[in-house]
Amino acid sequence: RTLLHSELAGDQVIVVSNREPYIHEMTSGGIAVRRPASGLVTAVEAVMRACSGTWIAHGSGSADRDVVDRNDRVPVPPANPSYTLRRVWLTKEEEEGYYYGFANEGLWPLCHIAHVRPVFRSGDWDQYVQVNQRFADAVIKEARTDDPVVLVQDYHFALLPRMVREALPKATIITFWHIPWPNPESFGICPWREEILEGLLGSTILGFHTPFHRKNFLETVDRYLETRIESEASTISYGGKLTQVEHYPISIAWPEDAQTDGESAADCRIAIRQELGLGAEHLLGIGVDRLDYTKGIIERFQAVERMLERHPEMIGRFVFVQIAAPSRSSLDEYQNFEARVRNLAQRINRRFEDGSYRPIVLKAQHHDQDELQRYYCAADVCLVTSLHDGMNLVAKEFIAARNDEQGVLILSQFTGAARELHEALIVNPYHIEEGADALYRALSMPRVEQRERMRSMRALVKDFNVYRWAGRMLVDAARLRQRERVMTKIR
Ligand code: G6P
Repeated sequence: RTLLHSELAGDQVIVVSNREPYIHEMTSGGIAVRRPASGLVTAVEAVMRACSGTWIAHGSGSADRDVVDRNDRVPVPPANPSYTLRRVWLTKEEEEGYYYGFANEGLWPLCHIAHVRPVFRSGDWDQYVQVNQRFADAVIKEARTDDPVVLVQDYHFALLPRMVREALPKATIITFWHIPWPNPESFGICPWREEILEGLLGSTILGFHTPFHRKNFLETVDRYLETRIESEASTISYGGKLTQVEHYPISIAWPEDAQTDGESAADCRIAIRQELGLGAEHLLGIGVDRLDYTKGIIERFQAVERMLERHPEMIGRFVFVQIAAPSRSSLDEYQNFEARVRNLAQRINRRFEDGSYRPIVLKAQHHDQDELQRYYCAADVCLVTSLHDGMNLVAKEFIAARNDEQGVLILSQFTGAARELHEALIVNPYHIEEGADALYRALSMPRVEQRERMRSMRALVKDFNVYRWAGRMLVDAARLRQRERVMTKIR
């Protein structure tokens, strides 16, 4: 946090993301504020609380529209405001084309290896361009000086860095791509590949989670644009402008004190088991995801099934709770996926049910952060089995929650987190036997071994927290701006 403050030294910070950090919804009891299920929001929100400024996002909950100011600004967090949320309201047509269409039916499957075919429609692209311009205009309007620090988030805004750069040439634009970047062949099928690359190269800094995604990006630029790439320094010179491309693994804010309302891990363990109708003898597994086809939920259930088949003594003893927040549910692909997940859970439950015992509890609804903390603390094992994932912050949240230094993390090798959390049980989610073995191993792991692994992962996440993530990008941006100034003088 100190690094953040010293780097910013009074600069104006403007964040742009699609998802808003606080959704204001009307309920029978008045306006309620909900936190969305989004790793991006989890991470960036902590940074914004620390450095204040303005966060521009797509307005998805409009219950407070009559209490905001003229520019649709509202102070957040509601209980203890430390920064400003400014919403951009999209028409239904814009939301369909830009968010559901181009971002989530095009770029999302393009960048994740989950074997879902991307769909590209010209109409969606037109909306994507238009919405990027609307958000860029909001940034420009929000800027109090000609050199604000603009933090652009994710695949919804690939064109915005360049749009802002054209209007505010002195701005420091730090863009972070929260999802994987594919290899040049894969990316090349996008009909607007050049426009996307040019848009991103409006950034001062362009960040990815892993060296591998960074390398894929550099190779993609090399393949499709006429640029000068300094591989050593990871900078790209395009149109007289430098962009530094680096990897900055994202993280979370380390919890300052127990976040479970004073409930200790031991209390949570008992309380959650009681809520589920289980006893102290039950072993509990937990999965926390959006209902998304990239998360490997089907493969995870299959691993549970195989483990029970192989170790019948676990039938009646092991219960797996899957918390699955509904996501992008108006898209066919997501509806079909949800139906497959529900059917599989049902089939496995029928197979092993005995009295009130069901091995899989599927909670396909939104849970707030406090509830998630309680589940993390109560679990013997947490399963993160994404088929492909930029980072996956659930893995880091589980670790941060375990101040009792117990619990085992099973982690897909296809997450960015697997590059850092070596003491997790790393699995290939496509290999169901391996998943089943890892699950059994986790459930039988001695407490001493759990402690050793957890301690080492906790030290890493505590140290490489989200403030470091943001701070490193700011330091690199300052260095690059300095280099640019020197180059301009020499010229
Ligand atoms: C991923 C994306 C984020 C997004 C989140 C939730 O983590 O990288 O940009 O916010 O999923 O998805 P949603 O579409 O609900 O915002």
